Amino acid sequence: AQQKPVMRVYPDKGEQVIHKEIYGQFAEHLGRCIYGGIWVGEDSPIPNINGYRKDVFEALKALQVPVIRWPGGCFADEYHWMDGIGPREQRPKLVNTNWGGTVEDNSFGTHEFLNLCEMLGCEPYISGNVGSGTVEELAKWVEYMTSDAESEMTALRRKNGREKPWKVKYIGVGNESWGCGGNMTPEFYSDMYRRYQTYCRNYGENRLYKVASGASDYDYNWTEVLMKNAGRHMNGLSLHYYTVHRWDNKGSATQFAKEEYYRTLGKALEIEQVLKNHIAIMDKYDPRKRVGLLVDEWGTWWDEEPGTVRGHLYQQNTMRDAFVAALTLDVFHKYTDRVVMANIAQMVNVLQSMILTDDKGRMVLTPTYHVFRMYKVHQDATYLPFDLICEKKKVEENRTVPMISATASRDKNGVIHLSLSNVDADNSQEITVELAGLKGKKVTGEILMAANLTDHNTFESPNTVKPTAFNGAKIVGDGALTVNLPAKSIVTLEIK
Ligand code: AHR
Repeated sequence: AQQKPVMRVYPDKGEQVIHKEIYGQFAEHLGRCIYGGIWVGEDSPIPNINGYRKDVFEALKALQVPVIRWPGGCFADEYHWMDGIGPREQRPKLVNTNWGGTVEDNSFGTHEFLNLCEMLGCEPYISGNVGSGTVEELAKWVEYMTSDAESEMTALRRKNGREKPWKVKYIGVGNESWGCGGNMTPEFYSDMYRRYQTYCRNYGENRLYKVASGASDYDYNWTEVLMKNAGRHMNGLSLHYYTVHRWDNKGSATQFAKEEYYRTLGKALEIEQVLKNHIAIMDKYDPRKRVGLLVDEWGTWWDEEPGTVRGHLYQQNTMRDAFVAALTLDVFHKYTDRVVMANIAQMVNVLQSMILTDDKGRMVLTPTYHVFRMYKVHQDATYLPFDLICEKKKVEENRTVPMISATASRDKNGVIHLSLSNVDADNSQEITVELAGLKGKKVTGEILMAANLTDHNTFESPNTVKPTAFNGAKIVGDGALTVNLPAKSIVTLEIK
């Protein structure tokens, strides 16, 4: 007989807080992420607040975005911040060589980004130019943004309309320095990092959290060399991991078979082993876990939507993407003692985005958005360890996928939240959740599901995939629940 799924939660063993920054976003000057996605300018017929799209702003506000990484990505290592300040009509235009050769008019720059973060109540994460910028340029950017003293840079900022400095905590020193950020060796970059970060100063009360450009996927040597040569000069080290099978044939975002769905989840879940391996290296050099690991780019990467501009990385987003989001967040929660931030790529109109927009003023919330919204209850809550027994499916030669993924947390008010994904594409599953003596009186929930795994939201049909109330959980005696999970569904429960 098949084992019925059981989840045993240990509410007394919760020690780690799930850093809210794990729910971070990434917004690059790429395609229509910034222009048309976030920023339309004050003169646009599309409703806007000081130039920011109103619909997008409100959707992001509802998501409780904790941090946004900007301006890249590969773009960051060719970005010269002084091009993006001062009167907009006087800002220079340039070609975005990384992303489709599009003309960048610099109308969205430092002020526009940092003001957006203030309006959203989130932390900015600035990605500095090491690949093609100078030490002086980066040092002056930090001064321009964060100093309150009398200096040439602060006078310039004041002249440009901002009296007080902004608060900027996170500063990335280069991006993908092994690739588009300068094609450096880890040894060379370690020295570059040490040098550039030296001049990123703390002004006044502002305290920088300096992030070194980290490895991609399975490049453990990069982490090893960086930790060894520069570990003591950094607060954080980044990691990039995309869910992609073949870079030369990524596959359609919306047309795929069930086997491909399972294979995708296998690849997405492999991030757990990748994290463990990088963390083991970090533990060797930093056993007290002083240095944070920031997965500052992650998510699915499919073929661009037919008919869209090449190099703009515009892709649709289905229930499959929703599962990648939920399962990856479940993994991040487990390693929250080391993983202090994650930034899904990207926030609007690029890769696994939260939001899609068009130039007629229409907006779509993706299934991934709905997962982030349902999961926001876990932000800054205490992670509750658990055991989970369920069936596993072999999806590739060396990869299996558990048919249920889960996570649990307790928030500041003592409310327990459980998220459960029934990965099984065909069968409902009833899971028993034992809460080890916790007597919850009431359980409520939300569910995200769709008729087909390929279902997604379009401008014509924006609500094909959206969460609804869930009544499939029941309290059965002291500290236990049974939850009836429909096939291919993602549920978040609240237990009070
Ligand atoms: O997110 C798109 C690109 O992927 C980023 O610019 C780069 O850092 C990564 O290779």
